[in-house]
Amino acid sequence: MELSGQRIVVTGGAGLIGSRVAQRLAADNDVIVVDNLANGRPESVPDAATLLKGDLRDESVVAEAIDGSVDCVFHLAAADKYVDTDSPRRQFEANTDITHNVLERMAAVGVDRLAFTSSCTVYGEAGEPTPEDYGPLEPISGYGATKLAEEAACSVYAHSHGFTVWTFRFANIVGPRFGAGVVPDFVEKLREDPETLTILGNGRQEKSYMHVRECVDAMCHVVEHAGDHREGPLYTYNLGTRDTTTVDRIAGIVSDEMGVDPEFEYTGGDRGWTGDVPRVFLPIDRLVASGWEPDLTSDESVRRATRELLAR
Ligand SMILES: NC(=O)c1ccc[n+]([C@@H]2O[C@H](COP(=O)([O-])OP(=O)(O)OC[C@H]3O[C@@H](n4cnc5c(N)ncnc54)[C@H](O)[C@@H]3O)[C@@H](O)[C@H]2O)c1
Repeated sequence: MELSGQRIVVTGGAGLIGSRVAQRLAADNDVIVVDNLANGRPESVPDAATLLKGDLRDESVVAEAIDGSVDCVFHLAAADKYVDTDSPRRQFEANTDITHNVLERMAAVGVDRLAFTSSCTVYGEAGEPTPEDYGPLEPISGYGATKLAEEAACSVYAHSHGFTVWTFRFANIVGPRFGAGVVPDFVEKLREDPETLTILGNGRQEKSYMHVRECVDAMCHVVEHAGDHREGPLYTYNLGTRDTTTVDRIAGIVSDEMGVDPEFEYTGGDRGWTGDVPRVFLPIDRLVASGWEPDLTSDESVRRATRELLAR
């Protein structure tokens, strides 16, 4: 699908990734952002896009955002993954509700192209590389469970209602946003106390970290190049870097960028929190075969995000 001259709804378009998606798309398309601003910031929404403030759990908001003139929906709205240990059920209900509202409304008004943002947490604690056809999918967090359920709902609309769906299973996406994630957490902790850094777990957790700019590039590339109605209904892509990094290395990079040399203290155990997957290996061969590959390694992505955070 060509991403130019289209009318596109971006749900969650005031958030870290959605605001960059909206910015990218608004250069050549008519973009409507819908976001309840629970975790998004209105100033992140590009001027060229229209912001509709509202909760996607409310069907009237979804109806206002998506009408028959829309060509495609980029669905990024989701309750923050870091709330799931407090209330996995609340998060599950919120996210699956939002996604069903979007899917049902799209079907009702004849909009049939959807880019959906999932997560590598659907693979659970595989302990081995997880290409897109890996199974069984056994998430270990409430967040992973919501993403898997939402993927399943999207699959129904792809296979039984004529939708084309691009599903993206993200690695950890980093960028200039405070409030969640290991990089901003370390920056904030070191600003408070440059002598000591408390690290959740044992520091050896190992994952792929992709910079938000590359994440948006990759998503747009896939939507533009990986098929359309004539080729298939459901396209699933892992999105990450080619490599991984560890929490210890991230601590080192953040300390280095801040010019401090703290002592690391560990809370212990092999993971940061209940539901955290300690080792994630996310092959991106399918993405590379589509003609796009990341320029940055995980370490470089973390370093860039740290610099951006420090410059804020
Ligand atoms: N950042 C990551 O590392 C990562 C990793 C895997 C998957 N994802 C997924 O990518 C998407 C974007 O993530 P992000 O990091 O930009 O998160 P984010 O929290 O910055 O953005 C999500 C946006 O959705 C909005 N939102 C939440 N509930 C809503 C509702 N009921 N109605 C309307 N808007 C609502 C929030 O206000 C926020 O602006 C999410 O679906 C997330 O689950 C992110």
